[in-house]
Amino acid sequence: MTTEQKYIDLAGKVAIVTGSGNGIGRGIAHRLAQAGADVFIADIDLAAAKSVADELKSNGHRSEAGKVDVADTDSTESMVYEAISKLGKVDILVNNAGVGGAPGWTERTAGSVEDWMKVFEINVLGIVHASKSVAQHMIDRGSGKIVNIASGAGRRGSPGFAHYSTSKASAINVTQAFAYELAPHKINVNSVCPGILWTNLWHDISDRRLRMTGDSESSGREYFEQRFDSIPLGREQTPEDIGNAVAFLASDRARNITGQALNIDGGAMMN
Ligand SMILES: NC(=O)c1ccc[n+]([C@@H]2O[C@H](COP(=O)([O-])OP(=O)(O)OC[C@H]3O[C@@H](n4cnc5c(N)ncnc54)[C@H](O)[C@@H]3O)[C@@H](O)[C@H]2O)c1
Repeated sequence: MTTEQKYIDLAGKVAIVTGSGNGIGRGIAHRLAQAGADVFIADIDLAAAKSVADELKSNGHRSEAGKVDVADTDSTESMVYEAISKLGKVDILVNNAGVGGAPGWTERTAGSVEDWMKVFEINVLGIVHASKSVAQHMIDRGSGKIVNIASGAGRRGSPGFAHYSTSKASAINVTQAFAYELAPHKINVNSVCPGILWTNLWHDISDRRLRMTGDSESSGREYFEQRFDSIPLGREQTPEDIGNAVAFLASDRARNITGQALNIDGGAMMN
C-alpha cells in the first residue's frame, strides 16, 4: 500500500456512487476503491456501470454494479437494498449523477420548462431520494458519510444555463439542511463543487455554446480551453482530483467536517 493510500484509508467501508458509469463518478469510484472501499457502481446506464465495476474488479477490488434512476425514489430504494444485499452495508453515499437538462437541451439557448424540471428531478431530487433511501440504514449504524457533487455553477448563476446553476445551488443548500438533520446520528453530509472537467457533460456544453455563437471554426475542446484564462491555476480538473476530495470527505479524517461545500476548481471560486 502506498503512503497516499494509507493517508486516506477506506478499508472495510462500502460506498455507493451514483452516475459512476462515466466521467467524474467513474473517477470517484476508482479513487474510493484505491483507498480500500468496496464500491457499488450505480448508473441509469447499466452497461456502463458494469464496465466500471469490471475495471475495479480487474484491479483487485470488490465491486458490484446496478441500474438506478435517481429521479425515482423506488429505484433509489432498490439501489440501496441491492448494495446492502451484495456488499453487506453502506458506509458512504456519493450523489454524483447529474445532467445539463432534458433531452435536447444542447439545442436550446435557454432552459425550457422541461429543462428546469429535469435538472431538479435528477440534480436535486436525485440527492434527496438516494439520501433518504440510505439514511435509516446509516442512522441504525450510528455513522455514515454522504458527499454530494454540486458545481462551481451553484456558487454563481450561469447566463443561459440558469436551470442548471440553480439546481446546483440547491444541491449545496440541501447538503446543509441534511447535515443539520443527520448530525445527531453522527452522519456527515458535505458537497464538492467541481470547476471544469472534460467529460461528456462538457462536450455537450461546448457544442451548445459553439452552436449558439455560430462559431464553426473552433472545436469544442478549444472553447473549453478558453475557460482556463479565468482559473488562477490555469488548468482543467480531472475526475481523480474530484475523487481525492471525495475520498477525504468520506473518510474518518473528515469526522468533524459537515455541511460544507468544497471548491475543486483551480481557484476559480474563492469563497
Ligand atoms: N464536467 C464538469 O465540468 C462538471 C463540473 C461541475 C459539476 N459537475 C457534476 O458532476 C457530476 C458528474 O458529471 P460528469 O461531468 O461526469 O457527467 P457525465 O455526463 O459524464 O456523467 C454523468 C453520469 O450520470 C448518469 N446519469 C444521468 N442521469 C442519471 C439518472 N437519472 N440516474 C442515474 N444516473 C444517471 C449518466 O449515465 C452518466 O454516467 C454531475 O452531477 C455534474 O453536474 C460536472
